[in-house]
Amino acid sequence: MSNICLTGIQPTGKLHIGNYFGAMKPILDLSNQTEFDKILVFVANLHSLNSIKDGDTLRAYTQDIALDYLSLDLDLTKTSLFLQSDIRALTELACIFNNLVTVAYLERSHAYKDAVDNGKEANMGLFDYPVLMAADILLYQSNIVPVGQDQKQHIEIAQTIAKKFNSQYGQFFTIPKPYIQTNTAIVKGLDGRKMSKSYKNTIEIFEPADSIRAKVMKITTDSKAPNEPKDPDTCNIMAIYKLLASSEQIAEMESRYISGQISYKEAKEILAETILEFFQSMRTRRQELLQNPEYVAEILAKGAKEGNLIAETNIQQIRQLVGLK
Ligand code: TRP
Repeated sequence: MSNICLTGIQPTGKLHIGNYFGAMKPILDLSNQTEFDKILVFVANLHSLNSIKDGDTLRAYTQDIALDYLSLDLDLTKTSLFLQSDIRALTELACIFNNLVTVAYLERSHAYKDAVDNGKEANMGLFDYPVLMAADILLYQSNIVPVGQDQKQHIEIAQTIAKKFNSQYGQFFTIPKPYIQTNTAIVKGLDGRKMSKSYKNTIEIFEPADSIRAKVMKITTDSKAPNEPKDPDTCNIMAIYKLLASSEQIAEMESRYISGQISYKEAKEILAETILEFFQSMRTRRQELLQNPEYVAEILAKGAKEGNLIAETNIQQIRQLVGLK
């Protein structure tokens, strides 16, 4: 039996430090630590259709997020990166699954209710989002699905659909397990709230160095004087620094805080350089990729081929089971 890890990423605009720790690092960690036969990472562009209604915008966002992930230097012998829309069997499977869930069941989805409460259009794409996501996961017989905490219910819906299918048509689907990193601290933004595009408090990984420096200078702190002792545990500068610096660097910074030997200004300057250093290789790699669109297209085509290989084998059997063949 092969062991498959799969995750989908929504193109959401410019990548920030919060995205890195929430979504990218778990994939990197899993691909380094665990023995998976295959890691499938795809850009969920079909899912984005429920909110992005302009072709050029969707294409640009899709290209951007593909570059972001390729800048991670994933092991491409084991990882396939592709676009969701390149897998034709996917929408067919979603169509089949639509007959296994009731409207009442999907109406209980938190994500759907929240989105509509927040003014999003209640279109069928949004309503049916979890069914398409279940097809994403089950089509490849995925075992482990790394996702954020907010996606937990979506995985449960996929599990329910798998079980329903299995009891209706005979044992076929693997029941997928979510991999939710519970120890990932919430990454704080410039104002100390959770780093999020909607709060406009983000530090983007690929923005110009000077713009990163300028943003870091805006991190909110209390108004302690340079030589006053400061609390490293409640400081917003420290909160980001701790994610990026080595344990020795953190210990040194903490002792300078406690003994009143560092100003917030200097702490911010150190943080900005630490951010640039931490993301240096990704930043350079992304610039290189930007110059080489043919290579990026090639990688995505290779990924789609690998994804389709699994998808086509499985959909043949699914068609047989449900009587489409
Ligand atoms: N809904 C996920 C998110 O917003 C993205 C996604 C789509 C996904 N399909 C998936 C994640 C399948 C894991 C598996 O983060």
